[in-house]
Amino acid sequence: MKKSETTENLEDKELDTTLRPKKLEEFIGQREVVSNLSVFIKAAKKRGEPIDHILFYGPPGIGKTTLALIIGNEFNASVKITSGPAIERTGDLASILTNLEDGDILFIDEIHRLNKTIEEIIYPAMEDFALDIILGKGPSARTVRIDLPKFTLIGATTKVGSLSNPLRDRFGTILKLNFYNQDDLKKIVSRSAEILGLSIDGITSEIVAKRARGTPRIANRLLKRVRDYSEVQNKEITEPFILKTMEKLGINDMGLDLEDVKYLKLIADKFNGGPVGLTTLSAALSEDTETIEDYIEPYLLQQGLITKTTKGRYVNLERLPHALI
Ligand SMILES: Nc1ncnc2c1ncn2[C@@H]1O[C@H](COP(=O)(O)OP(=O)(O)O)[C@@H](O)[C@H]1O
Ligand SMILES: [Mg+2]
Repeated sequence: MKKSETTENLEDKELDTTLRPKKLEEFIGQREVVSNLSVFIKAAKKRGEPIDHILFYGPPGIGKTTLALIIGNEFNASVKITSGPAIERTGDLASILTNLEDGDILFIDEIHRLNKTIEEIIYPAMEDFALDIILGKGPSARTVRIDLPKFTLIGATTKVGSLSNPLRDRFGTILKLNFYNQDDLKKIVSRSAEILGLSIDGITSEIVAKRARGTPRIANRLLKRVRDYSEVQNKEITEPFILKTMEKLGINDMGLDLEDVKYLKLIADKFNGGPVGLTTLSAALSEDTETIEDYIEPYLLQQGLITKTTKGRYVNLERLPHALI
């Protein structure tokens, strides 16, 4: 895990809960996803049926869990939250499934990390609302089918490519969330600032938005830091104040943080721009490969700062901010 991710995790969770939009109308940006969802929600309500299984994918911190909870609210449904790595044995999943009620939502975060044997229980559960249990062993083993309530599975993943085809195919709807543009991020910053009781104007919220790596969770986290500094130093949140705070946090005006800069400099300086393989990068940066692939690279790719090929990663030197090289 990226250092800032682990140390701020608990705090992030608290922030996530307080700042999370509860209704679809409050959810800022991702217009296409929101408009599709609102159609599916209306249609399901009209039929009086639970909504079809949905898969959300996209980088961390951009609203997957939020949308799952919003859908729960829309249907007045209870949402059971679990995650791929948390379901270790088939019995864990069987117990979750048999404890659901009609109309419940089962949210599985990091669904790409479910293991194969567990996935196989999910197929009939998604398709036929049935649980197949094998009784006995060897030649005398037999399968008993138990009916399950009509539930909705909502899956979230940062790596849709790591999902097996049969699992992916069983979702009626697959929705991709993208990084947010500056306008939407600015609205998110203003909304969060209001909830946190911070007085910040258009210019300052724009400065925060610009540095949020396209990610609402990061925008909220920066805002929280701004609040800390402003409280401790008893200062108003003015433009110079916020610029200074960002500098202290090690975030430059492209929104690149210290890890990003380390990553880019490593490829640019030590490897002459690339190519560099993932494992080499992981060793040189002392970050695990998953952190690099999930947290660091997506934004750098989206910004056109790096390219991924079969040979490895390249830095696009001509696009790097001059200050970095
Ligand atoms: N569209 C949005 N509008 C306002 N706030 C958002 C939006 N998307 C995400 N957030 C904020 O970012 C935080 C992280 O979102 P979350 O749904 O937990 O991300 P993910 O599950 O994709 O990692 C939420 O608590 C919420 O405060
Ligand atoms: Mg989440």
